[in-house]
Amino acid sequence: MTTSADSIDVRRSLVALAGVDGSRITAWLDRAESFLGGGDVPRAGFGPKPPLADRIVAHLFMEDSTRTRLSFEVATLRLGGGVIAATAAGSSISKGESLLDTARNLAAMGADAIVVRTGASGGAAQIAQRLEVPVVNGGDGRHEHPTQALLDLLTLRRAMGSLQGVRVGIVGDIANSRVARSDVHGLRAVGAEPVLIGPPTLVPRELAGLGDAHGGRPIEIEHDFDRALPTLGAVIMLRMQRERAAAGAIAVDYPRGYRLNRERAAKMPDRAPILHPGPVNRGYEIEPEVADDPRRSLVLRQVGHGVAVRMAVLESMLAT
Ligand code: NCD
Repeated sequence: MTTSADSIDVRRSLVALAGVDGSRITAWLDRAESFLGGGDVPRAGFGPKPPLADRIVAHLFMEDSTRTRLSFEVATLRLGGGVIAATAAGSSISKGESLLDTARNLAAMGADAIVVRTGASGGAAQIAQRLEVPVVNGGDGRHEHPTQALLDLLTLRRAMGSLQGVRVGIVGDIANSRVARSDVHGLRAVGAEPVLIGPPTLVPRELAGLGDAHGGRPIEIEHDFDRALPTLGAVIMLRMQRERAAAGAIAVDYPRGYRLNRERAAKMPDRAPILHPGPVNRGYEIEPEVADDPRRSLVLRQVGHGVAVRMAVLESMLAT
């Protein structure tokens, strides 16, 4: 089940970017920018009364994660808060306790917010609707991953200035990607133009309907990456979500049409930024020399910016 942000109080939780105003997104990005202080990762402390002093953020991660889980943790620590964590292995989830019951127990311990990652699309909203404490969606199935989109927007904005009218290619396994859906909503909300790129099996026509959340103008779909490249101001490459793909649905010759290599990168406007949420499958969706190109690739900067946007989101929910 997929639940849109309008059915919950988005001032209290962050479950999706669908339905969130551009002005609210811009406020988070501006605050994140202030945490960066001109650098690529927040480093400064807050003195004697940090914004999350005495606050506890609980992590409830049912799927593996490196960047999202640890950067939420760094963000909380930088704001002066504490973190507790439950994962599927090592908690009573392995005994059959439900995600919702686990979340209720974390709230009963006095956790002030819960960051949840689950394989169930719509799972974050289901918890947010039943709990008093704010919930942040750290990725729910194929639905959304809002803080990933916020960090992508921040990275693009820092690299390009205004995002107004910028065509941003989102390339790969869109069908199974929560990152792609949140990116589409975030980009449209701030006036940029997402273009979904990949083979028809991974970018079915109905994804154009994601534009319904933005006045109905369909999201552009392009199956020919080479044709799209010269028109793109930036590109977000995605990982093949093998854990979510139906058996046999992965395009066998995918790299031939869609791998970002040096020749393809050269077809984009000079210095057009290249992003990837990670984990990167080096040599499959992107060649190492492109992923590591210091002139174009912003992949590691995205990681530092992820700390900053997560600080902005947690502060907006929890600061006293
Ligand atoms: C993404 C995720 O888990 O949705 N990773 C992340 O959070 N940085 C993308 C992916 O796993 O491919």
